[in-house]
Amino acid sequence: MEYSIAMLPGDGIGPEVLFEGEKILNLVGMKFGHAFRCRQGLIGGAAIDHEGTALPKSTINLCKNSDAVLLGAVGGPKWDDPNSLVRPEQGLLGIRKELKLFANLRPVKVYKSLADSGPIKPHVLDGVDMLVVRELTGGLYFAKPKRRYVTSVGRSAVDTLRYHDSEVRRILYFAFELAKGRRCKVTSVDKANVLESSRLWREVADEVSLEYPDIELEHVLVDTAAMQLIQNPTSFDVLVTENTFGDILTDEASVLSGSMGLLPSASLSTVSDSRRHRMGLYEPIHGSAPDIAGLGIANPIAAVLSVAMLLRISFDMESEARLIEAAVEDVLDRGFRTKDLVASEGKYLSTTRMGEEIGKRICESGIR
Ligand code: IPM
Ligand code: MG
Repeated sequence: MEYSIAMLPGDGIGPEVLFEGEKILNLVGMKFGHAFRCRQGLIGGAAIDHEGTALPKSTINLCKNSDAVLLGAVGGPKWDDPNSLVRPEQGLLGIRKELKLFANLRPVKVYKSLADSGPIKPHVLDGVDMLVVRELTGGLYFAKPKRRYVTSVGRSAVDTLRYHDSEVRRILYFAFELAKGRRCKVTSVDKANVLESSRLWREVADEVSLEYPDIELEHVLVDTAAMQLIQNPTSFDVLVTENTFGDILTDEASVLSGSMGLLPSASLSTVSDSRRHRMGLYEPIHGSAPDIAGLGIANPIAAVLSVAMLLRISFDMESEARLIEAAVEDVLDRGFRTKDLVASEGKYLSTTRMGEEIGKRICESGIR
């Protein structure tokens, strides 16, 4: 059987890190005897340059005709003109919406070997293992009206934070289902002391929680959550929240693991248990990092771990996913680092060399 994967490298460091991800995918394919067929599509700034739009129809069709999607990153200064009607980010938001990927899973893990290299005290990080479930196709990012306009007193702009109860319910179900297989705690993050949409969110969370008597639900305001993420990160198991809150909190949470370059994500449209061929889009949470694009120093680990998530979630390949995750852990344990993980004058590997080290561990492992 052949598995087809749409590859959307995008902009900046996207192509560099995705290339390493693809190499790891192929190594795993060879080791386990799977045929992965990767087909490339344009998205973001790269698509604007070639087709004049950030999300060409051909890319949408490619994704819809594939079993899973692997994406690098979008955006960069070249396309940053605030007056432009086309923006790279429209590609990413568009494909999430087209594929109805309302649930974005962002696991945050702290590697023992990195625990004392970041700005947070190692004892605070001991035992951190959380899963952020970010609502991905609604909230402040998508609701209308969303526009600029001019009034008699000057320029104005509006974005809208609107949720229907059905949108809140389905993401809460997702979070509760995932909590079952973990430490049975859901933290719902909102701003219910100020926002009407958050008060609805909280109400629906309480309703859903009645169906899960064995799962603890706590409500935390987003500002408090931002503080607790740094002060007491082990208090979180599954954290579920609105689109924008989730975007902000996951960049913050990446500091716990040591670098944005380490965190993968999965965007899904169904919580269903039958995992075979579950469509999903997998991408690092980091952006296109234009400042380091083309220098060969980007960390490919988030892309490689996104491949692991793809194999586990979309293709039900648990052993294959674990092998990749173990290889990453092993490489870090042995002290291999990319530039984002070392102090200014420390030694580090290039993107390709890091990919090679991970690949080596996969080839050497005793499995099969
Ligand atoms: C992310 C990114 C995107 C987002 C941008 C590039 C549109 O920051 O995936 O977290 O805000 O969702
Ligand atoms: Mg982000």
